[in-house]
Amino acid sequence: MLILGIESSCDETAAALVHNGTKIVSSSVASSYELHLKTGGVVPEVAARKQVEAIAPVIDDCLKQANVIPEDIGALAVTVGPGLIGSLVVGVAAAKSLAVAWDKPLIPVNHLVGHIYANFLETDPLPKSPALALVVSGGHTDLVLLKDHGKMEYLGGTVDDAAGEAFDKTARLLGIQEYFGGAALSKMAATCTNNTLQGRLPRPKMHDPDYNFSFSGLKSAVKRLVENEDYPVEVVACEFEAAVVDVLAHKTIRAVKENNVKAILLGGGVAANTQLRSRLSFEANDLNTPVYIPPLNLCNDNAIYIASAAYFNNKPVSLAFIKADPSLGILD
Ligand code: KG4
Ligand code: ZN
Repeated sequence: MLILGIESSCDETAAALVHNGTKIVSSSVASSYELHLKTGGVVPEVAARKQVEAIAPVIDDCLKQANVIPEDIGALAVTVGPGLIGSLVVGVAAAKSLAVAWDKPLIPVNHLVGHIYANFLETDPLPKSPALALVVSGGHTDLVLLKDHGKMEYLGGTVDDAAGEAFDKTARLLGIQEYFGGAALSKMAATCTNNTLQGRLPRPKMHDPDYNFSFSGLKSAVKRLVENEDYPVEVVACEFEAAVVDVLAHKTIRAVKENNVKAILLGGGVAANTQLRSRLSFEANDLNTPVYIPPLNLCNDNAIYIASAAYFNNKPVSLAFIKADPSLGILD
């Protein structure tokens, strides 16, 4: 079945066509990222206006790339949350309109569940259940047990800042980049040849028996460190990244062992982090558990994984019940 996915939860406007949840047919993404660099963060009203401008062109582009007409499409899928409400409603309204006009079912998708399904695309064999997913994005850091499609158990998550948020705030603090500086911080860290700060920053909650995370104290520890001591920025960046990766990898591997899972799935914008990718691969290899890590283009927000998640969790609902919900958690 061919599904047209639509994603508009933040500053990316995206549409994609995916066959049977696994084969990418076409994809189109517009981003207002550059605009938000000027204001040092996403201004929700500005992001929403850009969504309005981009939504029809990306859907049109996606259909044209694949030479697909509405008759070829089996269902539509749309991100309903979490995200910025002004941005979400644009995608939801577009998807509902097309579902009515084309007389197709519409499948609502949770954005975070979408990130997990980035691991089901163009891959063979598909991940087996139960699988453990680590979703690390700008707004979330969650450990989720995927018992089966549509059956998820939330094991834990951050109690304050998300991992991506910590990367972004620390990148700003270190003067590396004002907004969405996670990738830039990581690039800076890679230039450090000797981490003379090794172990100096805390690894918050690393040995706690729960599956929760906390990253706000780590950011404050970086602030105290740079205020009181003089270290090259790349060394501080390197130690900060090492602390985040240590905690994420340690808790993920413990969850893998304690839940006897058959696969590890990584998802979200921070899944693009080179250190996290190689550390999880290395540790999973030791456990003999297959680890799935999406290619970089599937870590960033797009509509491909929205269409995939919709295929595997195929639950079309009455259009009247499909609402944009900015706070929708991972289990909703
Ligand atoms: O999933 P995503 O695109 O947006 C949300 O749904 O939040 O994630 C964006 C987050 C940002 O915080 C960004 O700085 C971070 O992912 N990020 C990275 C890297 N690339 C993106 N963080 C660390 N290392 C990277 N290479
Ligand atoms: Zn995302």
